[in-house]
Amino acid sequence: MKLLNNNSLIVLLLLLILAFTEVSSLEEGYSRDDFPPGFVFGSGTSAYQVEGAAEEDGRTRSIWDVFAHTGHSGGATGDVACDQYHKYKEDVKLMVDIGLDAYRFSISWSRLLPSGRGPVNPKGLQYYNNLIDELITHAGIQPHVTLHHFDLPQVLEDEYGGWLSRESVRDFTAYADTCFKEFGDRVLHWTTLNELNVFALGGYDQGVTPPGRCSLPFGLNCTEGNSSTEPYIAVHNMLLAHASATNLYKKQYQHKQHGSVGLSIYTYGAAPLRNSTEDKQATARLNDFFIGWVLHPLVFGDYPETMKTNVGSRLPAFTEDESEQVKGAIDFVGVINYMALYVKDNSSSLKQSLHDFNIDMAVELTLVENTSFNNEYANTPWSLQQVLLYIKENYGNPPIYIAENGQMTPQSSSLEDTSRIQYLSSHIEAVLHSLSRKGANVRGYFQWSLMDLYEVFGGYNMSYGLYYVDFKDPYLKRYPKLSAHWYSSFLGGTLHHRSHALSSAI
Ligand SMILES: *[C@@H]1O[C@H](CO)[C@@H](O)[C@H](O)[C@H]1NC(C)=O
Ligand SMILES: *[C@@H]1O[C@H](CO)[C@@H](O)[C@H](O)[C@H]1NC(C)=O
Ligand SMILES: *[C@@H]1O[C@H](CO)[C@@H](O)[C@H](O)[C@H]1NC(C)=O
Ligand SMILES: *[C@@H]1O[C@H](CO)[C@@H](O)[C@H](O)[C@H]1NC(C)=O
Ligand SMILES: *[C@@H]1O[C@H](CO)[C@@H](O)[C@H](O)[C@H]1NC(C)=O
Ligand SMILES: *[C@@H]1O[C@H](CO)[C@@H](O)[C@H](O)[C@H]1NC(C)=O
Repeated sequence: MKLLNNNSLIVLLLLLILAFTEVSSLEEGYSRDDFPPGFVFGSGTSAYQVEGAAEEDGRTRSIWDVFAHTGHSGGATGDVACDQYHKYKEDVKLMVDIGLDAYRFSISWSRLLPSGRGPVNPKGLQYYNNLIDELITHAGIQPHVTLHHFDLPQVLEDEYGGWLSRESVRDFTAYADTCFKEFGDRVLHWTTLNELNVFALGGYDQGVTPPGRCSLPFGLNCTEGNSSTEPYIAVHNMLLAHASATNLYKKQYQHKQHGSVGLSIYTYGAAPLRNSTEDKQATARLNDFFIGWVLHPLVFGDYPETMKTNVGSRLPAFTEDESEQVKGAIDFVGVINYMALYVKDNSSSLKQSLHDFNIDMAVELTLVENTSFNNEYANTPWSLQQVLLYIKENYGNPPIYIAENGQMTPQSSSLEDTSRIQYLSSHIEAVLHSLSRKGANVRGYFQWSLMDLYEVFGGYNMSYGLYYVDFKDPYLKRYPKLSAHWYSSFLGGTLHHRSHALSSAI
């Protein structure tokens, strides 16, 4: 890896700025000033991916620790990660250098409550108080806090099967209560559960994310689980847990703390492969299964009809009382979007005797040009715009935060990450377009991720960071990539962008 010094980075950045301003006289150009006042720009991480200190100060293992230590992610683990647990002050400075309005991070449940419930770990409490205070007091950066980012305490997995049991609802609510009580005087944006749809599919259908459960023929190396039923059960319990925590906040905290509670959903931009009724219906089904699975109950009190029809008795039913609880239990939607798919109908799959989510959805998916899981994403800003408008039109235009969006590059590649800059600038433009021209209720944008970190797919080999982390250096030194300078110039208002043509696929 060729490390550039800061001067050559700045020269490169200047060249880029010149390239942008050359065409900025076009009406379609944009800058930060075009966003409404109060719109927040941030960047994100999650506890297991950056904190390290996995066995320090009373923290116990989460399902992600166990998953990583059984050799998934090619043997890479979050034991040390970026060591943010010890370097949080330095990392807050990096955020100040960029000029972030907000930082999205998650609390490690098993650091705060090592037994999953019961007594609070004073060291864990101290750490999150320190981080939040450092963000607010010294830097004026808003904390946007996630409570569960793939990291249920392992003790609860062992005790009752984690999210497969209704008991998780009670324990999650108590954990959320602790967080609202301890941090809610300073934290105004709470995300209960991060991308529960993909967590359930990876963790209970394909077995490729924690807790790594699946059954044949659907998953890889399955030892325990049931891919036909468990993803639906897990999401059902997570929805009840989310609703329970959200309703608790609304009842006991919102009137004095004035914050809001949401959850995040993993999404794909989706376009029909062919111009046919079947493929258009298949695209609608994909959106029902990915977005509606989570959002439909929260807005309408029940799952989408397509899911009830195709999944049948394997889809848990909401009782009338549960339906009342989940309906309306959301203040904002967190949207996670990286890539787009073409969708082809595959209704014949429903004839098979064994089903999982993919068969129930009855579609064939093709990634758009150039995208793969070990390469950079194709730059398809229409993907994000399509999702924002889909949610606006189908779910009553709720407030949206883009919780994650960003470009993946090999970790060892250059600090001159121009493809990341192109990706970010065109996606931010798509957000502006969705908001100012199409009326989507978007309130903020969080780039993923602040720094290179441990990823569930690819371990430390793939990176999304604005900062490069030298994982071979015992001090884990951070270096700004060109994208960090770029984001900083954009947020400082000194950068005016040329317009990127949005695809006609919108
Ligand atoms: C799955 O099993 C195959 C073959 O036994 C092995 O090569 C591979 O490493 C295993 N994968 C994981 C994630 O355990
Ligand atoms: C999964 O559960 C379904 C419904 O209970 C059952 O029919 C099926 O045999 C189970 N599959 C496995 C692999 O245990
Ligand atoms: C799709 O099909 C409809 C009806 O057959 C036709 O009117 C329309 O022009 C087609 N669109 C495209 C993009 O080919
Ligand atoms: C489409 O359905 C058939 C069964 O009818 C199945 O064999 C095939 O794998 C499915 N295709 C995809 C991509 O899921
Ligand atoms: C795919 O890659 C080719 C060659 O690098 C490039 O010209 C094209 O724009 C890319 N397509 C997308 C959708 O990014
Ligand atoms: C990361 O790269 C190393 C070295 O090439 C390899 O051994 C490891 O399996 C890779 N990890 C993942 C998760 O792909």
